[in-house]
Amino acid sequence: MGGARKAFTSPPPNTLQMWTSSRLLPSDTMLRNSFRHAMERKVSIKVASVGFILCFMVVYLSFESFIGTKPNFLQINLRKQKNSTIPANQSATYTYSWPKCERDNSVTNISGFNSLPGHLKDFLYYKHCRHFPMLLDFPDKCGGPEGSADVFLLLVIKSLPGNYDRREVLRNTWAKERLQNGVWIRRLFISGTMDSGYEKKKLNRLLEMEQRKYNDILQWDFYDSFFNLTLKQILFLEWMERNCPHVRFMLNGDDDVFANTDNMILYLKSLWNNNGSNHLFTGDVIYNPRPIRNPKSKYYIPVQVHESNSYPAYCGGGGFLLSGYTASIIYKMSHSIPFLPIDDVYMAMCLEKAGVRPKHHLGIRTAGLHIPDRKADQYDPCFYRDMLLVHRFLSVNMYVMWQSLHEPHINCSHSTKM
Ligand SMILES: *[C@@H]1O[C@H](CO)[C@@H](O)[C@H](O)[C@H]1NC(C)=O
Ligand SMILES: *[C@@H]1O[C@H](CO)[C@@H](O)[C@H](O)[C@H]1NC(C)=O
Ligand SMILES: *[C@@H]1O[C@H](CO)[C@@H](O)[C@H](O)[C@H]1NC(C)=O
Ligand SMILES: *[C@@H]1O[C@H](CO)[C@@H](O)[C@H](O)[C@H]1NC(C)=O
Ligand SMILES: *[C@@H]1O[C@H](CO)[C@@H](O)[C@H](O)[C@H]1NC(C)=O
Ligand SMILES: *[C@@H]1O[C@H](CO)[C@@H](O)[C@H](O)[C@H]1NC(C)=O
Repeated sequence: MGGARKAFTSPPPNTLQMWTSSRLLPSDTMLRNSFRHAMERKVSIKVASVGFILCFMVVYLSFESFIGTKPNFLQINLRKQKNSTIPANQSATYTYSWPKCERDNSVTNISGFNSLPGHLKDFLYYKHCRHFPMLLDFPDKCGGPEGSADVFLLLVIKSLPGNYDRREVLRNTWAKERLQNGVWIRRLFISGTMDSGYEKKKLNRLLEMEQRKYNDILQWDFYDSFFNLTLKQILFLEWMERNCPHVRFMLNGDDDVFANTDNMILYLKSLWNNNGSNHLFTGDVIYNPRPIRNPKSKYYIPVQVHESNSYPAYCGGGGFLLSGYTASIIYKMSHSIPFLPIDDVYMAMCLEKAGVRPKHHLGIRTAGLHIPDRKADQYDPCFYRDMLLVHRFLSVNMYVMWQSLHEPHINCSHSTKM
């Protein structure tokens, strides 16, 4: 299981060539130009310091290209194992220029509208909006639409702009992009915007800086709230249809789950009749669910939003696995199903319309792992060794767990197996 590290330390030869030719990002060039301009002014004032400045520039540039090496090499390596040249316009950021979606004031006519909580009113006002401009994009994530068949598992992680520490830990643990058991794992965080004013600007800048380093963020210009998660999900599926239509499998989940992606690869490779082109949607299935009608609940759904007193069986949204085929049918079905703000239930509504079902997987525990022995270490790796996904994990535990599971000799003879 050391494939991860190997994939990064020994890149295919062509990767290095690509690195040298596209090492300079536009922003690097700008930075250098402004640096130079500032320097030139100084030179004219203090001619004597020319030597010093030149030395400094040489040191600066070589230092910058040195520290720039690793992230840039990573991002290029992610593109593809193939040696096809990437067209110049393909990696340019693709931004939709959708007209601003206006709020639909006719919803105030819905009976009882005025007594609904604010976030539900807000949901109803903007329920019809399905397109938002992209602020950050990386269309080449899967090596182009054709290349995307080479991506075996695409990790699609919902992450709020402010969750920097979680993203950073995931990049270093289970969401590492790598060749695992001979197949490629790729990573994307999907995000909207948060807050307003300076705070919003700052968080957008944070994502921009992360994007420069890792190229693993898709961001749309909508307010990233709990009741906009369905919107986020569908925006992603639309993006996927355009940029990664042939990806074999996807893990869709939150940024606070522990996902054993090594095990996921083993599981997905063991599906004898599915290479991604058949139906698969598996996770922690909740059977016979009903809408929560208690206005105090986070999940409160009034009859004005969902009339029926039941939901289809659905997979808990913390994390589930699906095939590329199923992702595509969900997207198609979504065109004719009005949004329900509970994203995981909405997925199930799309599946139901397509006539397929979610399947329960015992290794996916979106409600956590219940360890019967209260005195046992709740984070004993032996409990997690055979799991695919467990919600919820904080960053410290995430990092330690991932490392522990990769120690060569875990001794689990002492603990009860789950
Ligand atoms: C990749 O390189 C090999 C050998 O250098 C060549 O035969 C092949 O045609 C190239 N493939 C593409 C897609 O450019
Ligand atoms: C790239 O440019 C060509 C010609 O200008 C155009 O036909 C093609 O659609 C562009 N591709 C993308 C992905 O924008
Ligand atoms: C609300 O309903 C009334 C009657 O059905 C209609 O005349 C009016 O235009 C509606 N208001 C909006 C904003 O759609
Ligand atoms: C969803 O995002 C839109 C666009 O930013 C926003 O107007 C709306 O209030 C958001 N909805 C909720 C329920 O937060
Ligand atoms: C995937 O399996 C289907 C049969 O279920 C087959 O037609 C298709 O060619 C396979 N695709 C790949 C890329 O192996
Ligand atoms: C594993 O641990 C048990 C009890 O702690 C011990 O008896 C056993 O020898 C250990 N096995 C190995 C291979 O270290």
